Amino acid sequence: MPVSDDRLFRDALGRFATGITVITCRDPQTDQPQGFTANSFSSLSLDPPLVLFSLRKQAQCLPAFLGSEAFAVNILAEDQVDLSARFASSDPGRWEGLEHQTWSTGAPILPDMLASFECRTVSTHEGGDHVIFIGQVLALSMPREAPPLLYFRGAYHGVKP
Ligand SMILES: Cc1cc2nc3c(=O)[nH]c(=O)nc-3n(C[C@H](O)[C@H](O)[C@H](O)COP(=O)(O)O)c2cc1C
Repeated sequence: MPVSDDRLFRDALGRFATGITVITCRDPQTDQPQGFTANSFSSLSLDPPLVLFSLRKQAQCLPAFLGSEAFAVNILAEDQVDLSARFASSDPGRWEGLEHQTWSTGAPILPDMLASFECRTVSTHEGGDHVIFIGQVLALSMPREAPPLLYFRGAYHGVKP
């Protein structure tokens, strides 16, 4: 089947189940936290320890991620759909009332995650309408044991609406 139909392409990609993360950084211009919901996170290398994600070129937070040279990946648990929705919206108030820690880079580490990784950006690459970020992991935590939040066929998997 040719890949001429955008809807078909999205539908086929949606059959690949993923976890969900909130990827954050500290905006170097404003010193404010930035973050967005991402399922493009992937492990890349063990030695050195590298991970990657891709960010839409049109995303408002792209300049902050390009400028900050560091990011944190926060992996969501099944009961954190609200956080996923919050960081998939462009609501400027999405950090309001949200506790977080910072480690060495200032990228926000969210509480009660399955795992968090703090990374230094080692390279960025053009990838069509996205930019691919590769980061070296500097530190990690695994504060919680819980089932993961999963995304499959364009919806949260196994979560009652
Ligand atoms: C489950 C899920 C996964 C997403 N994954 C990505 C992703 O990997 N890359 C991306 O650029 N946007 C992704 N998005 C969309 C962004 O979260 C959304 O566009 C966000 O608002 C971008 O931030 P902005 O307000 O700075 O533009 C995803 C959304 C959802 C609901």
